[in-house]
Amino acid sequence: MNNTFRGRRLALSTLSVASAFGLALPLMARAQVAPIAIKFSHVVAPDTPKGKGAQRFKELVEQRSAGKVKVELFPNSQLYKDKEELEALQLGAVQMLAPSLAKFGPLGVKDFEVFDLPFMFKNTAAFRAVTEGPVGADLFKKLEPKGIKGLAYWDNGATVMSANKPLRAVSDFKGLKMRIQSSKVLDAQMRTLGAIPQVMAFSELYQALQTGVVDGTEGTPSNYYTQRIFEVQKHISISNHGHLAYAVIVNKKFWDGLPADVRAMLEGAMKDSSTYANAIAQTENAVALERIKASGKSTVYTLSEAQSDEWKRALMPVHKEMEARVGRATIEAVYKAAGFVAPR
Ligand code: LMR
Repeated sequence: MNNTFRGRRLALSTLSVASAFGLALPLMARAQVAPIAIKFSHVVAPDTPKGKGAQRFKELVEQRSAGKVKVELFPNSQLYKDKEELEALQLGAVQMLAPSLAKFGPLGVKDFEVFDLPFMFKNTAAFRAVTEGPVGADLFKKLEPKGIKGLAYWDNGATVMSANKPLRAVSDFKGLKMRIQSSKVLDAQMRTLGAIPQVMAFSELYQALQTGVVDGTEGTPSNYYTQRIFEVQKHISISNHGHLAYAVIVNKKFWDGLPADVRAMLEGAMKDSSTYANAIAQTENAVALERIKASGKSTVYTLSEAQSDEWKRALMPVHKEMEARVGRATIEAVYKAAGFVAPR
């Protein structure tokens, strides 16, 4: 028996002894078995805060596991659209997603819509104080009965509003068909402004705007830029009325079934890629906004203080109206953690 053959036999017998006794195999001993594959599906472009966060996660995981864990990225709704991707995760067809917090309602976890309440967060720090604290952790616990585990919150940032007409006064929204994500809070927000909300998958937005199926929408500059939305919207108002962010989630059964050392490695890679994704979000959006302005295709306008106050006064009743859906306790916990002060 040559040495290589003897070495292989030894490795194999160590593996089978370990398996026979139900022992979790250390990462190195798994060299001989097929890599663990994580399919990570999302709906945005690779060149966005979420896309770059996912790419960083892939790199860290593959480096730290020396290739024994593979992360396959499927950006731009390549595999699934908004609603389908959540179903695919529950069925185990993909293992990881990062949907926006506005997309958990159809799953039956309505509390996440608290993040859509208009003018809730005065800045990114206020938002992060909520997601990084006990409220963020409690919300993740609510996903577990759905077979989903929350791993991290990734930020994108404050949202803008757009249409083919300037949106300055609340009355400018009257009768506009506005695309929204599947959140009842966003639905109430648009109705309160006098618009007609329409839930639509992110992947369908560009064409819907181009063909006039909807007149306008809301979102972050990084999404407007990478999906070319600025080419089909003549006016963008910087209103900072909302906040777009994500929950990175995994199929719980898959996660719980992983060997402990692999899970620990993945947790570390998720922690580091989350720090990265959260750190780049603000700059990515600022750069995207400059590019949109430079394109000359869309007029970018910042609401004056008086206009912003008018929007706030109009939209505050949505907080009360949505109490029954989102939960009073959740809203109050978010108010407290975010340091929310109701506008007068
Ligand atoms: C949207 O549907 O507008 C966003 O949730 C897309 C995203 O994931 O940023």
